[in-house]
Amino acid sequence: MKVAATLTVNGIAYPVEVEPGTSLLAAVRDAVGLTGSKEGCDDSECGACMMLLDGEPVNSCSYLALQAENSEVTTVEGLADGRELSPLQTAFLEHGGVQCGFCTPGMLVSATALLERNASPTEEDVRIALSGNLCRCTGYDGIVKAVLAVAESDAP
Ligand code: FES
Ligand code: FES
Repeated sequence: MKVAATLTVNGIAYPVEVEPGTSLLAAVRDAVGLTGSKEGCDDSECGACMMLLDGEPVNSCSYLALQAENSEVTTVEGLADGRELSPLQTAFLEHGGVQCGFCTPGMLVSATALLERNASPTEEDVRIALSGNLCRCTGYDGIVKAVLAVAESDAP
């Protein structure tokens, strides 16, 4: 039986109807219609589904949509300023942090959370913060360089 709920995603309140067991990822992709967050493993292993919940990164595949009702959800779509890429998104492109792109939304979300809590991370800090995000393509170096470049430029 579906339940009516309201999800606040990227500052907009969306009325949705979800099963009690529907994940936040499924609700945002299917009911809200924002498909930037990806489903890789559906088991809290890969980080492709990472979203911010009140500023904290969570694997949305393993979080119930109904649990997020009173929280602010931020997805990768909420990181850009309209059609303008964020500095972090631009840096990923400039430093070769994107290949197939499947991990990129989750990486950007985790990196955003890191820079919010630590504006001057070390390389080790970046690697630890992104350790829950798996990438099969880039070897991670371009991603780490991109995050460090944004931290050095002081413009997340
Ligand atoms: S899809 Fe959620 S962690 Fe992999
Ligand atoms: S760019 Fe392909 S998985 Fe990361």
